[in-house]
Formats: sequence, C-alpha cells, structure tokens
Amino acid sequence: MKSQDIRKQFLEFFKEKGHLIVPSAPIVTKDDPTLMFNNSGMAQFKEFFLGNGTPKSKRIADTQKCLRVSGKHNDLEDVGFDTYHHTMFEMLGNWSFGDYFKREAINWAWELLTEVYKIPKDILYVSVFEGSPEENVPFDQEAYDIWKELIDEDRIILGNKKDNFWEMGDQGPCGPCSEIHVDIRSAEEKALVSGKSLVNNDHPQVVEIWNNVFMEFNRKADGSLEKLPAQHVDTGMGFERLCMVLQNVTSNYDTDVFTPLISKIEELTGAKYTIKAANDAEEKVNIAIRVIADHVRAVAFAIADGQLPSNGGAGYVIRRILRRAIRYGFTFLNKKEPFINELVAVLAAQMGEFFPEIKSQQSLVTNVIREEEASFLRTLDQGLQLLENVVAQTEGKEVSGAKAFELYDTFGFPEDLTALILKEKGLSYDKAGFDAELKKQKDRSRAASEVATDDWVLLAEGNIETFVGYDQTENEVKITRYRKVDSKKDGILYQIVLDNTPFYPEGGGQVGDKGALVSLNETIEILDTKKENNLILHIAKKLPENVNGSFTAKVNEKLRSDSASNHSATHLLHQALRAILGTHVEQKGSLVSPNYLRFDFSHFSKVTDEELKQVEDFVNARIQEHLPLIERRSIPFKQAVEEGAMALFGEKYGDNVRAIKFGESMELCGGIHVRNTADIWYFKIVSESAVAAGIRRIEAITNEAVKAYFATQEKDLEDINVALKNPQDTLKAVVSLQEENTKLKKQLEALLRDKAKNLKGELATELKEINGVQFLAKQVDLDPTGAKDLAYELGTLGTNLFLVLATAEEGKPMLTCYISKELVAEKSLNAGQVVRELGKFIQGGGGGQPFFATAGGKNVAGIAEALTAAEGFIK
Ligand code: ALA
Repeated sequence: MKSQDIRKQFLEFFKEKGHLIVPSAPIVTKDDPTLMFNNSGMAQFKEFFLGNGTPKSKRIADTQKCLRVSGKHNDLEDVGFDTYHHTMFEMLGNWSFGDYFKREAINWAWELLTEVYKIPKDILYVSVFEGSPEENVPFDQEAYDIWKELIDEDRIILGNKKDNFWEMGDQGPCGPCSEIHVDIRSAEEKALVSGKSLVNNDHPQVVEIWNNVFMEFNRKADGSLEKLPAQHVDTGMGFERLCMVLQNVTSNYDTDVFTPLISKIEELTGAKYTIKAANDAEEKVNIAIRVIADHVRAVAFAIADGQLPSNGGAGYVIRRILRRAIRYGFTFLNKKEPFINELVAVLAAQMGEFFPEIKSQQSLVTNVIREEEASFLRTLDQGLQLLENVVAQTEGKEVSGAKAFELYDTFGFPEDLTALILKEKGLSYDKAGFDAELKKQKDRSRAASEVATDDWVLLAEGNIETFVGYDQTENEVKITRYRKVDSKKDGILYQIVLDNTPFYPEGGGQVGDKGALVSLNETIEILDTKKENNLILHIAKKLPENVNGSFTAKVNEKLRSDSASNHSATHLLHQALRAILGTHVEQKGSLVSPNYLRFDFSHFSKVTDEELKQVEDFVNARIQEHLPLIERRSIPFKQAVEEGAMALFGEKYGDNVRAIKFGESMELCGGIHVRNTADIWYFKIVSESAVAAGIRRIEAITNEAVKAYFATQEKDLEDINVALKNPQDTLKAVVSLQEENTKLKKQLEALLRDKAKNLKGELATELKEINGVQFLAKQVDLDPTGAKDLAYELGTLGTNLFLVLATAEEGKPMLTCYISKELVAEKSLNAGQVVRELGKFIQGGGGGQPFFATAGGKNVAGIAEALTAAEGFIK
C-alpha cells in the first residue's frame, strides 16, 4: 500500500465516523510562546481543551506536520542513528472535544488497525496507565476493561507516568494515555525474546505507533493538576511508522516516504545506502544518508511555511538542522558542494499533491537551502584553516577546551568535526573544558530568556473576550482574568484579559496597540497587546488597585492611525510589486509599526532604482485615487479566494475570513486600516536590501513620517549649500570637490611614500642589536597605514627584526608591531600578544597575527612608556 493511500484511508475512516477533516496547521506556531513548532497534532487545538474557544466540530481528524526539535519533545540527536525517529514527521490524529471518550477512541483505533489496515492482532501490544499516587491519578481501569474485550490480557501492559501520562509541555492540557505498539521482528527473534519485554525499550522493531490520550487535566504553573471542564480525546499515530508496518519493511527509511529521497542522495553523492550495514564504514554512510533525508523534509517544510533560517529563535533551530545535514554530507559523504537543495524537487513531486505549499514554493525553498549550504560550506572551510592554526600553536597533544569552544561558538564549527580532525592528527581536545564553556553559555542565555508565568487569577467565569477594535478605540470594560509574568528581560509584568476590548493584539505583522485602562481614580498604562492561545493579553507594569472595578479602555489613537496608514500602504506595496516585478512576488514577512513598514518578499534579484521608482509611483497613484476601504468582516474563505484575495502560506485561516479591499488590491487580513487611501498621504521607500537567498526587503514610510523625511532632506540640502557657499548648481559643486579631492589624495600618497622611503633609510641606521635581535621602538610622524607600510618595508631588511612603531595621528595613539616570521617560529614571539601587553599603556587593545599586529588606544601620553617597555619582550 502506497503511503499516499495509507494517509487517505486514515482520513476517510474518521470521516465516516463523523469527523471533520481539517488541513495540517503550519509547522511553525504563532500565538503560543511556549511552543516554537507544532510538536503534535493537538497543538493547534490546545485552546479548545482549555476551554478558551470552540472548535468547528466536536470531532476532528487530520494529518499534522510535526517537528520535535526543541523543548519538551526533542528527538534531534537521535535522528539518523536509529530508524524510527524524525525531526519532521506526520502525525495522524483524531480528536473528540467533550464528545466521545475512551470506549469509542479505543474501539475505532483497533478497528482501523486490524480490520481496515489488516494488521495481525498477534503483533500488537497495548499499554494502560498504572496510576500515580503522587499525582492522585488512579489506575485506568476503564481503558483496561475496554482493551480486555479486544485483546488477550497478556498483551496489555501497565505503564508509568513517563510512558503513559502524556503532557504537551511543562504546562497545559494532559492526561493518561493508552499506546499501541507493534512487534515486527522475525519469528525466530520472537521465539527467543518476548515482544512484551521489549515494549518501550528502544527496540527498532518493537515501536509505538499510536497514542490515545484521554485529556482530563490541566498542568498548572505550580506543577499541580486541575480537572478540565470536559473530557477529551487526543490521538496521534506516527505516519511513517505505520507505513513501515504496512509496507512490510523494518525501517521508516525503507518506506516510500523516504526511498525516493535516498535514491536521489545516492545519485548526487555516489554513496550507497545499505539496508543492513556490514561494517562501521557502511553504517556511517547510512547514518549520514538518513540524517540528510530526514532533515531536508523538516527544513523544506519550515521554509515553505514561512520560517527562513536565521540567527535567532525558530529560524536558528532550522538553520542548525540544515547545518547538521550539511555537516554529515561534508564529512561522511565527502560532498564539498551544495547538493541538499536538489532534494526539494523530489519532495515536491512526492508530497506536493497533499501539501501544495511545497510544490508552489519549490524554487524559493531550493534557493534558500542552496544559499545556506554554500555559506556553511565556506564556514567549514574557514574553520578547517583556523583549526590548522590552533593545531600549529598547540604544545603537547591536547587542544584546550576554550579554543575548541571558540571555534564552535564564534565560527559555527561543529564540535564533533573538531574531534574527528584532531583524532586524525593524533591529537585530542579537553572535552570537559569544552562542556564547561558550553554550559556557561547555555546558563547565560537561559538566564536572559527565563520567564516565570504564574497561574491565571480568574475573576469572571467563562467569559470569552470579544474584539471590538475595528469599530471603536474606546470602550467600557471589566477584567476577567490576569496573571503575573516575571522575565529577566522586562521585569515584572501583568497580562490582563478583558471581557471585550478595542485593543488590537499584535498579529499579521502589525504591532499591538498601546493605550490605557482608566477608572475614576487610576490610569493603568497598557504597554503592548498580544494574542496567545485565543486570549487577548493587555500588558501592563502594574495592576489596578481594584481589579473588579469598571474601566474605560482607551487605545492610543495617534499610534494606531499611524500603524493603519502603514498597513494599508503595505497592501498597496504588495500589489505594486506583483504588478511591476511579477506575480512570483509573495509576501515572506511583514512588520507594520507606527513609524515605518517593512515588507519581505520573494524575488530573485535586486530591485533596481528604476523599479523602485515605479513601485513608489504605483502606490502613490492609488493614494491619489482616494480609494475607499471596502471591508468584509466575515466571508467564506473559498469565496474570498475565488474573488482574488491573497492568502499567505504559513497562516492559519478559519472558514470565514476578513477581506480588505482598496480598488484592485484584496487581501485576507485581520489588521487595522485607513478609511480611504487618501489618508496615507504619501508613500516613500527608504531602503531595499537582501534578507536571504531569493528574499528582498523594502522599508518604507507614509504620512507624517514622509513629511518629516522631506523636511530633513530639505534642511540637509540647505546646510550643504551654506557649507558650499551657495553655489549656483549644488551637484556640480559637489562633483568638482570630489574630483579635486581625488587629485589631492593621489599627490599626498606620493608624498607620503617618499617620506616613508626616507624614514626607512633613517630608521635602518637606528636598529639596535639586542640578544641577536634587530630591535627598534619609535614614534613616527605617519598615519597608521603609513606605519604599516613602513614596518613591512623595514621588514625586508632582515630575518631577525622586532619593530614597534607608534603613531598619534589626530590625537589617537596606535601601536604597530612587526616581527620577522623566522623570529616568530624560533623564539615563539607573538606580535598579537606584544600589542595586547603594550596596549595597556595607551589604554587600549588590539591584536592580529603572530608576525604583525596593531593596537589602538586613548592615552597618547602612554606612548613613551609603551616604547620603553617593548624592549622587555626580547630581553
Ligand atoms: N498528543 C499525543 C502525542 O503526541 C497524541 O503523542
């Protein structure tokens, strides 16, 4: 059975059982600070378990793209080494929201596996929660009794809290679970060891395939459990593992989910994947191939869902996954050129039917991966050279942990690669020292990002907040709940939820509203507004004295209308880019703030000045047309798209959406907009740049920011004219100044060269022989470049020179040290160390290479002392 059909059958089965089939949520999560990526099927429904919203149906099923690479569920380091863990995998799931419970869930799971998929009952085991006195949760007798009707009692295993009590994270919905395991070992193996003893014991052919969670509790911030308002079912089946069972193979990588990728890797690298590795070398190649086949899926789908590799947050996790794959290719498949990007085409062909985002963004995803590969391969190359230097400077057989860590931390050079290369040279590194540095760094970043969130204090039950901010900026409100958040970064803050609110929560690129909660005797400033798990959080530094009182919620209207102007301009910009550059342009990121707008989009080359001008003109023409806002607050998604509304990948849309139209521009958008494009007043692009391969960024301003911009430009021009003594033609005057300057520079350079030549002759006579070294330490009347040239010139005079030249151009002291290479080798002198030491006299520091280094400082008066001290290094 093909994987495509296995997926379809699952969904059809649950459709027949009354479930609504929904699409996978994007792999990257929004609105949930406790989760970077969707790590299970239930994540997108979390709010429904907690009672913060109502699902479209009480029964839902889907296949969810999951990524387990950070936080509570993290399998990254196992991937490649075994045959059944993945970074990205599909989780098939069915849910009941306060509808059916254990009986139906268990019976349907059994029916699907044994009657539809026809998995023999005698290769299945199930587990049931044994109970936990410390949590005050009893043995799951109910599940046990239901299973007893379906399966031999000796195939039911009791499991502890670790295996049979599922939690999404440190906080949130949780409950006892029942897992289904398969034993796909050969008959001989089964005769030797019973499958039962191997369940939950990391055996590659005795694995869990399906987990049925009976959600009944919420884990609170203080660690205690509270009963949820209703009982729910949350299940998750590993799609790739199910395919392994149904396709009669013994590894996920031997299913048709992976074999096309593996064939392509073999073709591109010349390596060979062996189903059973005969030796260590073959196993290393196997691991590398599995790592690459797995990781490319995670990275490609994350990029298609809008998460580009970057230096922080989720983007950094994606970058690290890709780098892990590149590294395995580099070391074990000997690939020094980008090739992983070529696998995207295979993925698109194979998965594009069910996940169209990978097909429609194939070229973008390919470009981004190719660029990342090229740049990391350069890093590896540089790292290798740096490692050579480190090795050359190492006395004895061990590189210090600090050095190995510097390579890793500053240059991204992987630790295991350092270890491997050192081993080849018969060296090692101080692993404990490395680990200590790593721990220090982790502690530092953890301390910086630590946030302690208290439990909610509920004031009014069951109040789901309504957003009234499209029509109002002021409203009478009451507080329904609040909690305290203590973060190292921002200190103590309060998150306040209101019964209804005019405050727009950050979303769709637009920043959250600021403003105040005002009562008769108090004004509480609202610093920001965010959305989290369906709740609108108003962020404040303090709570009102009487939290039960009535307040007027007032949005800061000036900031809000500036944001609205930039938001509407963003839509027009998007339209303009597609009209002028082409319809390949797609939004890849957006920031709308009161001050400016930032728009990232897919486009393969720099936008020329000419094109930028056209884009600006296009937007300004729409502004001049005085196009009224046509807002449709709730229309069916399908209808909106049919009418030409732009939907974005990586966004989660409901059945009904809000559409924003200005003339021909129509987008699905929840943001705040101007009433008429005339309110934007004027649109001005202030910069265009690259963000990543195939992604450009435009920053622009509107309205009053443009007025300020033009006023500054005008003032600058006036000042320039005054400085130039009011010429008739400013441009001509500047050009002729530049020409004159170039001419003078050339003359000056020639003069300086002459001077340096003279100086060289003069100084050659001043070299002093100390301990067989030709020594000179002297202040010279040159600029730093002149001093460098002079040092190199003097350097040609011999093979045993030690020079320290000082300059003090424009009051800035600078030391230049030159040591003949021969001396560096013989006497282990190091110019870098010399300038660091001497730099202290001029209150500065610097560095460089062993034979040449410079240091700048602040204290000119220290030059004399520094020069005197220089002799110490050779004495
Ligand atoms: N949420 C459950 C899991 O991820 C089904 O295992």
